[in-house]
Amino acid sequence: MSLLTILRYPDAKLHLKAKPVNTFDDNLKELVQNMAHTMYDNNGIGLAATQVNIQKRIFIVDLSKDDELKNLHTFINLEILEKYGQVDSEEGCLSVPDIYETVKRYEKIKVRYQTLDGTLKEDNFDGMMAICIQHENDHLYGRVFVEYLSALKQKFIKKKLKKSLIQSGILDR
Ligand code: NI
Repeated sequence: MSLLTILRYPDAKLHLKAKPVNTFDDNLKELVQNMAHTMYDNNGIGLAATQVNIQKRIFIVDLSKDDELKNLHTFINLEILEKYGQVDSEEGCLSVPDIYETVKRYEKIKVRYQTLDGTLKEDNFDGMMAICIQHENDHLYGRVFVEYLSALKQKFIKKKLKKSLIQSGILDR
């Protein structure tokens, strides 16, 4: 297993659109394993392939708090078929470190997706799972959650993140 590099907002590569997965082989399994390893290492609850600079329709979610009881969900080629209700959702993102903001999400969703072996599934989700799926699925369309905020707030966040990248030596002044 290897750790993958997570792109940081406002990296332009976070706005690339992912393409469908057609081949369900060992390479796909290895990629998902590496994504999971990277997500757990960063204490995340979700990670989309776009965030590790791979433009494929893949994301993972694990809402379990207990390290011993991992419960990894892999969603491939997911489509949101139906959506109901609206909730305020306070979100963060591994690509937008230390920023937590409230955005609107659908309360319940019906989705169709494929599992790691290509099996087609239909499911209904609500609560945290529904919110995470919408957040991660957005990444595959090149959307980062802060883009739902006001232009002024986005400007502030970009400035703050740029400052922290410079401070940590990742970005030149
Ligand atoms: Ni995210």
